[in-house]
Amino acid sequence: MSFVVIHTICKRFAPVIAPSTSRGVHCQATGSTENSVCKTAQERLMAETATLYVHWPYCEKRCTYCNFNKYISNSVDEGRMERCLKKEAETLITMSGVKRIGSVFFGGGTPSLAPASTLNSVLETISKHAYLPKDAEVTIEVNPTRAASPKLRDFRHAGVNRISIGVQTALCGLVFCNSRCIELGKQLFPGRLSVDMIFGRPSQTVQQWMDELHQILPLLGGHISLYQLTLERGTKLFKQVGRGKYSLPDEDTLLEMYTSAVQILQNHGLFRYEVSNFASHGCESLHNKNYWEGGQYIGVGPGAHGRFMPQGETIRQARIQTLEPDSWMYEVEHKGHATRKAVPLNRLNILEELLMTGLRTTEGIPHQHWTSVSQGSSNLWDLCQVCTGVQDLLTAELLMLDSLGLRATSQGLLILDSLLPLLVSCLQDYYSGHKREKE
Ligand SMILES: C[S@@+](CC[C@H](N)C(=O)[O-])C[C@H]1O[C@@H](n2cnc3c(N)ncnc32)[C@H](O)[C@@H]1O
Ligand code: SF4
Repeated sequence: MSFVVIHTICKRFAPVIAPSTSRGVHCQATGSTENSVCKTAQERLMAETATLYVHWPYCEKRCTYCNFNKYISNSVDEGRMERCLKKEAETLITMSGVKRIGSVFFGGGTPSLAPASTLNSVLETISKHAYLPKDAEVTIEVNPTRAASPKLRDFRHAGVNRISIGVQTALCGLVFCNSRCIELGKQLFPGRLSVDMIFGRPSQTVQQWMDELHQILPLLGGHISLYQLTLERGTKLFKQVGRGKYSLPDEDTLLEMYTSAVQILQNHGLFRYEVSNFASHGCESLHNKNYWEGGQYIGVGPGAHGRFMPQGETIRQARIQTLEPDSWMYEVEHKGHATRKAVPLNRLNILEELLMTGLRTTEGIPHQHWTSVSQGSSNLWDLCQVCTGVQDLLTAELLMLDSLGLRATSQGLLILDSLLPLLVSCLQDYYSGHKREKE
């Protein structure tokens, strides 16, 4: 058996997965289909809890590799943005019926350009409409410029207790990235500082990458995310590579970069707990964990994504907000929110997502969690048993199924993107067979 290694070992996780069209999954607890009410106590708890993502869409400059939803503007109406973020947070929390927000993440764009008072005000709004525990994880993404350093203290006073710094490369002696900013972040947010780095950049060698990692190690504060560079269509880098100006490292080099990073970080006490994420014990990102476990999340701000079940509805929706900031603000001012699209997700869609995100973690998917999300309509033992493709992956020791649950082995994690289509197809076959049996 051979697998094509897709060169996305460590792609940045984006919780955006197109739902498929199958419907009508059976609920064993009540004998009803998912379109009617079927809730165990655990499900009710899951329905009443969510995390919340806030998107700040502005940046100072456009990085050549980036295709995130961001805008360069000299005249940001910060007051209007703040009012609209608060309004949309209020509307969506109320719409979701969620009672508890487990964590908040200010992402971008460059949210460290936002005034600290805006963050504080958004957090206060959240607290007014749901229970936000005092010690809930509240993260902000920070671009480590000279100007960002003095703001870190203000962010902490505003209620932020974790920062994620986009270092990307340490090779240029942390020029783009002001090392003082990282040091200060480490002091102000002990054990709650994360760093993002990108590998697989044009002409980068394994040795250069290892040097970069060694250079960053003394600055680390418990958590690091490593992303393999994705060549995104429409970016300047995409065109430059297309014209032959730059070339990217080949697959063997990428694999070596990744495996040597895993080793270097492990020797430094940072353990891989997800394909791209490494932490010392207790420093894992709780906010991201919720995505990987298939929990609900509310997305506020231009282009933000959400996954939640609106109150009074019986199925979850995948929601995306209007992208462009001025249109987004206009809609929020007129309707209270700017959801551009809300797509219903049936139980199978949710399980597909859980499979794709859960297997990115080293823990994998615990049996109890799968059974709960599937509302008892399937279990991992049966699923793996009936699909010969999955049996092959188990035999090849790329997957492991035991009393804890289903997970990818170290070898399996290296080629996860090649394994997932097969797993998803098995799941779909299982549910279409299951549905036929019921008919
Ligand atoms: C979209 S940025 C937002 C936060 C902040 N502006 C920054 O640049 O760090 C979040 C992270 O996405 C990652 N990222 C952005 N574009 C990427 C790409 N084309 N390939 C891999 N990672 C990318 C970077 O590691 C970056 O830290
Ligand atoms: S990588 Fe970050 S700073 Fe650069 S353009 Fe994208 S969002 Fe902005």
